[in-house]
Order: sequence, then structure tokens, then C-alpha cells
Amino acid sequence: MVKVALKNIYKSFKHKSKVVNVLQGVTLEIPESKFTVVLAPSGEGKTTLIRVIAGLEKQDSGDVYIGDKIVNDTPPKDRKLAMVFQNYAIYPFMNVYDNIAFPLKIAHAPKDEIDKKVKEVSKMLEIGELLDRRPSQLSGGQRQRVAIARALIKGTDLLLLDEPLSNLDAQLRTLARAELKELQKRLKTTIVYVTHDQTEAMVLADQVAILHAGKIEQVDDPLIVYRKPKDTWVAKFIGNPPMNLIEGELLDEKTFQFEDNKIKIPPSISKILKVKKGKAILGIRPENIKINEGNVKATIKFVEPLGSETILHLVVGKIQLDAIAFQMHTVELNKEINIDLSDESIVMFDSKTGMRMEN
Ligand SMILES: Nc1ncnc2c1ncn2[C@@H]1O[C@H](COP(=O)(O)OP(=O)(O)OP(=O)(O)O)[C@@H](O)[C@H]1O
Ligand SMILES: [Mg+2]
Repeated sequence: MVKVALKNIYKSFKHKSKVVNVLQGVTLEIPESKFTVVLAPSGEGKTTLIRVIAGLEKQDSGDVYIGDKIVNDTPPKDRKLAMVFQNYAIYPFMNVYDNIAFPLKIAHAPKDEIDKKVKEVSKMLEIGELLDRRPSQLSGGQRQRVAIARALIKGTDLLLLDEPLSNLDAQLRTLARAELKELQKRLKTTIVYVTHDQTEAMVLADQVAILHAGKIEQVDDPLIVYRKPKDTWVAKFIGNPPMNLIEGELLDEKTFQFEDNKIKIPPSISKILKVKKGKAILGIRPENIKINEGNVKATIKFVEPLGSETILHLVVGKIQLDAIAFQMHTVELNKEINIDLSDESIVMFDSKTGMRMEN
């Protein structure tokens, strides 16, 4: 297995006379045998990034390392990696067997070796029964497995996946996601997986790298990204509904005020706050707002009952907040309730820079 590193990668495209700056100094370490997910909204440069690693796109500047070697001038076929493209690109006119065998065929591998490998890899991905079918006779999930089988057949230390599950329906996606994670744990292949889907990132990743405005905004364990977003942009990007961000003022390290409400900052947070006074933003996730407790008065404006939970859209003065109630049988619109925002999970951000204030 192999580690990968990107050092200060820049990449722009010229389209007619317009320049699109896509990657603007991407630096990222991808540890060996781990599952790294690069998460970004659509159009932020995920495909570009993965194509730069594969060597299908040449960066304008910066270095790509595979292992300890700089591969800037190494052609794709010599980078010893496999890639599954955003649209799979399996050949519709070939059956599953020939699709999977293709990389070995063009490498002129002996026939019996090809046969052995196709059987091995198709068994591993549980598509051994489908070898004589055409792609049009497969479900989306099966097609995706054919694409992965083809990527794995030559034996690879590094697998690049570009939103491989985006064409699947929700149920299949959940299934395929679990399979992929299990496969990675078994093979210990280094995986770089790009997606705009935060659930995929949370579930699959050993580390998540968030790409924003051409740079890596935060790299961390998925739960750390969720609990301790580095800045308000990440806080808003992750979570559904996203983190509530409330502008107000720190009166001292123990008290945050917005409108007429004073929020007690839990000691675990106040003792690590770097700045103890002045304008600030308090971040709290919807599930951490306690309902029918505390002394902040909120009005229920709108509700989304999802079965296991209910999303409450609340208004406190001029501020809108989302909360999640796990047990709430009857909800009256325009009713005033009490909420408690003084939770151990709150995060404080600098109001000018948007950066998290603690540690
Ligand atoms: N060959 C190209 N010529 C000009 N512009 C390009 C080219 N390839 C990509 N772009 C632009 O670069 C930006 C990033 O594209 P990219 O495909 O990397 O984004 P993405 O994050 O993969 O998006 P998506 O989630 O929709 O797949 C987009 O604005 C895109 O239009
Ligand atoms: Mg893309």
C-alpha cells in the first residue's frame, strides 16, 4: 500500500478568454491503507483534484508524491493506481467478463491468468454470477461493482474513486457504501474518494478533507469535523440541518449575550477560550438545543416531522434557529417554548474571521 501527498497544487483552466482558478494551493497528506474522502460542493474541483493525482491532468505548479517519489512527470499508466470515474465508463458493448478483463487484455496478460483473476475479483465483489451479462442488464449497484472490479483487477495499492455512488438510489447507496468500506478494510488499499455527499464522507472516511475555494479548509477525523469545525464555513457545510450560528457578544468567558438572552458558557468551553470578551458567534448543532428547558424564549414557526425525529424551525427575536426534537408528540405552531443553548457541545467563533476561537 502507498501514501500520497499533494504539495501546494495549483490548477487553472482557460475557457475562451476566461480563466477558471480551480485548485489554489492544495496541500494534503493521504496516509497509506486509509480511506480518505475529499468533500466539497459541486464544481469546487473534486474531479480536477483526483485527475491530477492520476496524472490525467497536469497541475500548473506544485508536487504530487506517490510513496516518496515525485510523480509530476510520470505518465498515468506508470503511477500504479486505479481509478473509477464519476460516470463509471464501463463499456456497454462488452459483457461483464470482458469489462473486468480489459486492463489485463491490453497489458497482454496470458489467457489463463486473466481468467483466474477475473474469477477471483468478481467473486470478491459478488458479481461472479453476472459475468456473461451486458451492462444494460445490470442494476446500478452491480454496474458500480463491475467498475470497481475492473479497477482492482491489476492489483493496486492506490484506488481513486470519483463519486462512484452518485448514480444509485438511496437504498442501494447505503448498501454499496457499507460494501465499499468493508472492502477497503479487507484489502487495506489506500483510497481517495471524492464526493459532495457529507453522509458518505462521515460513514466512509478515516479522514475527511474539505475542499473549499481551491484550498483544503480542514482535514480531520469525520467526527471532529462535525463537532469542532475549523470555521463557520465548515460548520454550515456539514450537518443537516447545519449548525446554528448566533451572532452576539462575549461579556466575559462565562457569558454570551444575544439580543436580551444571556447564555451560560459551560466551564469546559470557557476555560479553553482564547478570547474572552467582545463580538463572537456561538455555534450549536440542532440536536444539542434542549427543548422545554432553559430560559430562552423561542417561537415554533415551522415543523418537519421525520418519524424518528422532528425538526423545529424556531425564531428567537430576529434570529432563526433549527432544533431537533427526538420526543415530541404534539407540536403547536406559533407556540412559545423554552430552549436551552448552554450545552457542552457549543463552539465559539471569531465574528471577524469566522475561525473557531478555542485552542
Ligand atoms: N477542461 C476544462 N476546461 C475548463 N473548465 C473546466 C475544465 N474542467 C473543469 N473545469 C471547471 O473547473 C471547475 C471544477 O470542475 P470539477 O469537475 O473538478 O468539479 P467537481 O467538484 O468535480 O464538480 P462535480 O461535483 O459537479 O463533479 C468547474 O468550474 C468546471 O467548470
Ligand atoms: Mg466531479
